[in-house]
Amino acid sequence: MTIGTALTTHATRALLLGSGELGKELAICLQRYGVEVIAVDRYPNAPAHQVAHRSYVLDMTDTVAVKNLIALEKPHFIIPEIEAIATQALIEIEAEGTCTVVPNARAIQLTMNREGIRTLVAEQLNIPTSKYAFAQSFDELQAAVDKGIGYPCFIKPTMSSSGKGQSMVKCAEELKTAWDYAKSSGRVDTGKVIVEAKVDFDFEITLLTVRALNKTGDVMTYFCAPIGHVQESGDYRESWQPQVMSVASLELSQDIAYKVTHEMGGLGLFGVELFIKGDDVWFSEVSPRPHDTGMVTMVTQKQNEFELHARAILGLPVNAQLHNEGASAVILGGINATGVVYEGLAQALAIDDTEIRLFGKPEAFVSRRMGVALATAENVKEARQKAVKAASLVVVKNH
Ligand SMILES: Nc1ncnc2c1ncn2[C@@H]1O[C@H](COP(=O)(O)OP(=O)(O)OP(=O)(O)O)[C@@H](O)[C@H]1O
Ligand SMILES: [Mg+2]
Repeated sequence: MTIGTALTTHATRALLLGSGELGKELAICLQRYGVEVIAVDRYPNAPAHQVAHRSYVLDMTDTVAVKNLIALEKPHFIIPEIEAIATQALIEIEAEGTCTVVPNARAIQLTMNREGIRTLVAEQLNIPTSKYAFAQSFDELQAAVDKGIGYPCFIKPTMSSSGKGQSMVKCAEELKTAWDYAKSSGRVDTGKVIVEAKVDFDFEITLLTVRALNKTGDVMTYFCAPIGHVQESGDYRESWQPQVMSVASLELSQDIAYKVTHEMGGLGLFGVELFIKGDDVWFSEVSPRPHDTGMVTMVTQKQNEFELHARAILGLPVNAQLHNEGASAVILGGINATGVVYEGLAQALAIDDTEIRLFGKPEAFVSRRMGVALATAENVKEARQKAVKAASLVVVKNH
């Protein structure tokens, strides 16, 4: 693989579809290799827009708009950062054979819809998941719960992320509200919801799994140390690495992650979400891209998840090893406002071995992730305390 010179006719061009905080870090990594980065999002001045060579504002679910942009920019790599994408455009572009969709168009299509990935993993790969059913009407949902899913259960739109439209239902009386919420808040209304029995796990992990070329040019699978995390309302609040777990559950987790990512194919980093109880492991979902809980790797690994993704995509060797223990804690907006200011950075960074990333989002919402605090320590327990403390010291205010 050769890399051209950015901003010349023979540049190596990467088109990021989605320009959030994960895209911003990936853009920076790609630029360090001299790649020309073109960042796309649905609103102006998104985080990755601010560090890219060029940026566009586009409805990425619009097939024609996506195809037109690809025709204009002629990228060598198309790197989806979000799930809501016109996958038909990616399938057509991939078939033309002029550029690489990362990791490939099928993986993007399968993972954007919970029905695609869940049926593949549970029914074809025979990997344990929560009990689940799909429903197209409230009556179907009620019947599925009554016939075996039971309570408590989770209701989710088949196309959604970051917990949007998702609720946990504890009893029959709550089911209708959950149905209405899932139907109205999905990213795209597929007409279907998934209902999943609640898995009574001890803890949940993200197993970052990298498919990259080794020194002899063969595709190898590498695993990062497991990342533990806490979720609230379907969105992550804290993560840490490593999560302590039994040898048996780690081996089983790696086995599941291998099978799922092998089935996805292509080169790149994947976030495999798993539920763990004792030595048992259930697959939850997979992102064919860096994962929000994986931001902790910015302080725990020599090659963080963005660097690993960038290297894997470019066909370069990777090292997924843990360097030291650490944790991350998110900084939420807390207010609805545009052009906010951040106070308390000096106090937060006065805590030893702590870092802060502010994403530069033009608008804050109460539960929007605006930044993240990262900390390292002798052990995860201390690192978590430091990260949470540092995050709490950063205050988002009206300007
Ligand atoms: N069947 C389940 N049993 C137990 N907990 C669950 C189940 N489904 C979801 N959860 C909890 O809700 C969280 C979010 O669920 P899920 O990952 O499916 O949502 P999401 O919208 O795709 O979130 P994200 O995009 O942030 O990963 C999980 O990490 C887990 O804590
Ligand atoms: Mg998830």
